[in-house]
Amino acid sequence: MNPARSSFPMMLATTVFLAALFLQAKKITTPAILLQNNRDGQPGDTVSALGRKIFYTTCYTCHKDTAGYLAPGISVLSLMTPRAVLAALNNGKMRQQAASLSEIERKAVAEWVTGGKLKSTVIPENAYTAFSLPKHGRSIFDYSGWGGNITGTGHRNSQQAGITSSNISSLKLKWVFAFPDATIVRSKPAVVDNWLIVGSQFGDLYAINRKTGKPGWHFAANAAIRGAIVIQKHADSAIAYFADFSTNVYAINLNTGKQIWNKRAGIDPQSGVTGSVAIYAGKVFVPITSTEVGVAVDGQYNCCFSSGGLVALDEKTGNEIWRYRVIAEAAGERGKKKNGKPFFGPSGAPVWCSPTIDAKRGLVYIGTGENYSRPTTNSSDAIQAIDLNTGKLIWSFQATSGDAYNVACPVFINCPDKSGPDLDFGMAPILIKRQDGNEILLAGQKSGVVYALSPNGGKLIWQTRVGKGGMLGGIHWGMATDGRFVYAANADNIAGLDKRDSSVMASPGIYALDLFTGKIIWKTPSPECPDKKGCLSFNSAAPAVIPGIVFAGSLDGHMRGYSSMDGKILWDYNTARDYDTINGIKAKGGSIDGPAPVIADGMLYVNSGYGMFGEMGGNVLLGFEVEEKSKK
Ligand code: HEC
Repeated sequence: MNPARSSFPMMLATTVFLAALFLQAKKITTPAILLQNNRDGQPGDTVSALGRKIFYTTCYTCHKDTAGYLAPGISVLSLMTPRAVLAALNNGKMRQQAASLSEIERKAVAEWVTGGKLKSTVIPENAYTAFSLPKHGRSIFDYSGWGGNITGTGHRNSQQAGITSSNISSLKLKWVFAFPDATIVRSKPAVVDNWLIVGSQFGDLYAINRKTGKPGWHFAANAAIRGAIVIQKHADSAIAYFADFSTNVYAINLNTGKQIWNKRAGIDPQSGVTGSVAIYAGKVFVPITSTEVGVAVDGQYNCCFSSGGLVALDEKTGNEIWRYRVIAEAAGERGKKKNGKPFFGPSGAPVWCSPTIDAKRGLVYIGTGENYSRPTTNSSDAIQAIDLNTGKLIWSFQATSGDAYNVACPVFINCPDKSGPDLDFGMAPILIKRQDGNEILLAGQKSGVVYALSPNGGKLIWQTRVGKGGMLGGIHWGMATDGRFVYAANADNIAGLDKRDSSVMASPGIYALDLFTGKIIWKTPSPECPDKKGCLSFNSAAPAVIPGIVFAGSLDGHMRGYSSMDGKILWDYNTARDYDTINGIKAKGGSIDGPAPVIADGMLYVNSGYGMFGEMGGNVLLGFEVEEKSKK
């Protein structure tokens, strides 16, 4: 049906087994066990051998994944930066446990457990510029959080955007910022006055001048920052909130770049955070996923115990107010594996996405993923509404039932019976008022189906299939809406397509659906990239919308502006190339995946580089600007 794509299935047929392993790497960049396997037994690698020895003799009893709630499990430690682990040993929470270790031993264990290197590229001092925010709030111009607002619409009005269909053709690359040593750029920047606040793969939070791309300050968090940054403004201060992958949540004073508080939000030893925090009415809502999906690949591992969750922290102190565990029931022994050892469950239903706030109804919405083991629960692959004051479940809409899957599938011992199809809700639900004044809740699933639900009780209003769907989407990272249409990026990524229904064809591209009926108004297929070997032309990243234009990136490295009326491509820029950067660090662009681009005040900010699942790695944040004359 699509001759240009037919080489992909063939190419990938030989790597199905590998694909199964990396499929879930979206979820787990560095499953501890894979890292260990990679790093063990390498002849001559004495640092690695020493690190391993220290870990098992000095740390393992407390830090095994099943050791209990207090200590982060090895799968969570493996997500931290070596720098953060070393700091914990030298002068942090672990200084007593590490008291007997030499400097060399500490460094070795920090590198071994994280799979990283302590020596890294540093942005030169002279690349920095003075940071300042205006004293008074008036001129502060902000955009923050996963969908740009608490309802997650991904929409900006004309005044905020400063980019229009008439000036889009003058949009030019103005600056390039390089994240040192990075291969994945997936944190979504927030805009505050003249600054972008953005996280990075190794846990650095940067303030970057949005006109010049020069950094003002940086703050070192303990682990990768995968989500968006949320800004809260107060009379005389502005604070950035975010979570790192090891579930530490931070409040950072923007004026100084210094930490106000930092709390760990994880609910299980295997908890992680990929989604973004959301803030409303004094609470920071933290979406909790679980790294156990990847850890389960280890046949020795007792699979599985953890659950997704949502934790509410006090905005002022970081103290926990409530926690919601998606699977209320604690896991117990349930059935036997093929080798006769016990399976544990129920587990999974992770929350990968960002929470969405419904102020009027006092609700916070989340999307959940598949169960990791059997029995399955009625809370997996679901959209759920939780009371934002009490953390109690109000309603749940399950789109797919009986979905049990983890990275051990299909071949390893921890793969549950009749596994799959792994159809998470990866994206944040969107709350939007239609032109008739009624509010609806929109969600796109990895199955390739878009749902419109009633926020009053979660009843299905309409559903439309836009793609074939699969483990990498379907609708992977998101949608956006301007109150008229909902724009969905359907990846239909060839890796992991849901093969169960052969009558449904893969149809990657950008779709516009009517908010009343769910009817497809237009669709623009992902343009092919035949010139490059191994180039994947799938729309996996979330789109953003401004009046007249939908911006959406592709795994082929292109950022495109589509007419919101008919889907015509109005602007196209290929980010996958080498760059000279403002901070003097080697840089290249690659695949665009994850968050939507950020549009503010005549500028467009694009993350480029996503080095997993066979996508193109890269390490840049790009600032584009329209010509001055057409801005006002
Ligand atoms: C006696 C049990 C125990 C031993 C032994 C131990 N840890 Fe811990 N570790 C903990 C607990 C409990 C926490 C959580 C502390 C908290 O969050 O307050 C923790 C936290 C950590 C953290 C996170 C620190 C942070 O700032 O969030 C790191 C990193 C860590 N341990 C590494 C190690 C390493 C490496 C070793 C071996 C050299 C080790 N630990 C040995 C119990 C232990």
